[in-house]
Amino acid sequence: MSDWKPICSVTDIPVLGARRVERAKGIAVAVFRNSEDKVFALLDRCPHKGGPLSQGIVFGESVACPLHNWSIGLADGCAKSPDEGCTIPFAVKVEAGRVHLDGIELATLALDLVAPKCGPGASTGALGDASFDIQAPHTA
Ligand code: FES
Repeated sequence: MSDWKPICSVTDIPVLGARRVERAKGIAVAVFRNSEDKVFALLDRCPHKGGPLSQGIVFGESVACPLHNWSIGLADGCAKSPDEGCTIPFAVKVEAGRVHLDGIELATLALDLVAPKCGPGASTGALGDASFDIQAPHTA
């Protein structure tokens, strides 16, 4: 069962870039747009050392982590070989140009993971850029 929440328009996400969706608890979710306007969502935490994937460069259906350039698959959140490890993928629905995330996943997935205390992957709010961050709709 899903509880789809409207997040933004596809065009609000830069092509080959991402926006961050802040959550009431847990690390933000990065919502990516590739060159074909396909949209993906991953926990904004690289499986290597917690880099902010939302600040990486999208290519094809992968994102290059801005810290050490690992390639992370946007569909499954997994590092490309020879690197190993996965971040958490979130379900995405695009309808009439609007991006939706599952409110149940936003409220429940990966709440036990913590963001790095400092550096570019530091927790939400540290970036403080309102034009970059989106607040997730509150879930009941
Ligand atoms: S933290 Fe992402 S490649 Fe190292």
